[in-house]
Amino acid sequence: MRIDIVTVLPEMIEGALNCSILKRAQDKGLVQFGLHNLRDYTLDKHRRVDDYPFGGEAGMVLQIEPVDRCIEHLKSHRNYDEIIFTTPDGEQFTQKTANELSLLKNLIILCGHYKGVDYRVREHLITREVSIGDFVLTGGELAAAMIADAVVRVIPGVIGDEQSALSDSFQDNLLAPPVYTRPAEYKGWRVPEVLLSGHERKIAEWRLEQAHDRTKRLRPDLMK
Ligand code: ADE
Repeated sequence: MRIDIVTVLPEMIEGALNCSILKRAQDKGLVQFGLHNLRDYTLDKHRRVDDYPFGGEAGMVLQIEPVDRCIEHLKSHRNYDEIIFTTPDGEQFTQKTANELSLLKNLIILCGHYKGVDYRVREHLITREVSIGDFVLTGGELAAAMIADAVVRVIPGVIGDEQSALSDSFQDNLLAPPVYTRPAEYKGWRVPEVLLSGHERKIAEWRLEQAHDRTKRLRPDLMK
């Protein structure tokens, strides 16, 4: 899979893509990232990519020209399955979205801009608008990094233990059960006995029960 991210702040995203599991996924050839600075695509000699809004609102607006030129440039190299725009008024990004996007071959993520983006970008260049939650960030960069992380992590082979991506919270609309490691007792706080029993069926039953209990208690909306 290839993910191209278009932004005015590539440095805000770079670190997130180039460490830990995402770094390893790139090294294994399971994903390729491209980071593209919008300022490289403007014809303005001062590298400006925003301008005053028509109609006299406050603040500056990201111009369509550099966005279009950048996307056209990317499209001249490959076909894209989706061109995503990160914005708080987009569809809610969920685990289901991550799973869906992970099946695609080539993806562009255009980061929203705190000052707003010429709406023609959204009308003509974008295929999908995504929000990571009902709150407003200063820009779409962290949202793009988060989307890339959630998508890449479910690509087969990215997480060493294939089973672990499937038993995550949200994969079956259930929160994950608790996990413990050594020591079995710390300050008198004991790990549930069943996990020490070696009894596989009982352990699996306990995990499922815990997942149901936690979901019912913490996220009853998921059980509907
Ligand atoms: N840009 C600013 N806030 C955002 C959000 N909640 N989701 C996606 N992009 C954003």
